[in-house]
Amino acid sequence: MGKLEGKVAVVSGAARGQGRSHAATLAREGADVVIFDLCDTLSTALTPGATESDLRETAAIVESYDRRCLAATVDARDLAGLQAFADQAMTEFGRIDLLAVNHGMWTVAANSWELDEAAWQESLDVLLTGAWKVTKAFIPKILQGGRGGSIVLTSSINGLRPQPSGVAYSASKAGVLNLMKVLAWELGEFDVRVNAVCPGGVDTQMVTGGGTLEKALSLRGDYHNTVRNRLKIELMPPQAISDAVLWLLSSDARYVTGVELPVDAGWLTF
Ligand SMILES: NC(=O)c1ccc[n+]([C@@H]2O[C@H](COP(=O)([O-])OP(=O)(O)OC[C@H]3O[C@@H](n4cnc5c(N)ncnc54)[C@H](O)[C@@H]3O)[C@@H](O)[C@H]2O)c1
Repeated sequence: MGKLEGKVAVVSGAARGQGRSHAATLAREGADVVIFDLCDTLSTALTPGATESDLRETAAIVESYDRRCLAATVDARDLAGLQAFADQAMTEFGRIDLLAVNHGMWTVAANSWELDEAAWQESLDVLLTGAWKVTKAFIPKILQGGRGGSIVLTSSINGLRPQPSGVAYSASKAGVLNLMKVLAWELGEFDVRVNAVCPGGVDTQMVTGGGTLEKALSLRGDYHNTVRNRLKIELMPPQAISDAVLWLLSSDARYVTGVELPVDAGWLTF
């Protein structure tokens, strides 16, 4: 029997990358899964966005585990769209227990004062305000069940240690950690746990797609060439993060709340 049998889980940014891996892992463990993604390219992200065909592929992977999947194109910045989708998920499944707020983007500029205003604003809107809006839309549905629940927000090692050249990303991901802490306190009395996972470098389009890493290196090689994992791996597979998300969402972590968990191959050891 899977660890999440009978549960319904929501994953944002699930068309590809870590989100797809999370959806597949939660389905493998017995959850029905509600997934959404922007399925479009953001104007200031370094990497082209996921597509509707990517999202359909994630849904097919969930269904290959004999689990039900509700999938839609929804923008994490669109509160009304999120709330309508949360209503639809309740109509479809009758409950929501678990939430993984995973969607994201990355942008860089050599120095903070050289970043375009549009890039700053889009990053904050997607990464921080978007994370809050997803929790605002889905937490009432978790509470409606009265059975408790578990939420994981994806921050980054850059939420704990900022990245030179990545000011909007670092500021947003640090904000996500405080969003998590506030929610963990507020939701404790309802037996809803809230934690954050802080990945190091993961092998997804965000890093490897569209010459992203090359751009970061060309702008700030003096920083990006110096950071190293302590363990012998350059970029971790998405499954490494999904395993941590599964642990935090499952009852294996039933007394863990308010935690910032690095999964970083030892990046933060020095
Ligand atoms: N890849 C890494 O090295 C790394 C490291 C630390 C943290 N992270 C974080 O992990 C999370 C997952 O990223 P990934 O590595 O899978 O990258 P990815 O680019 O493959 O996936 C991000 C997904 O989020 C979606 N998305 C973007 N904006 C959205 C919006 N407004 N609404 C809905 N969906 C939206 C994208 O379409 C894409 O499918 C992100 O929060 C990211 O910041 C990534």
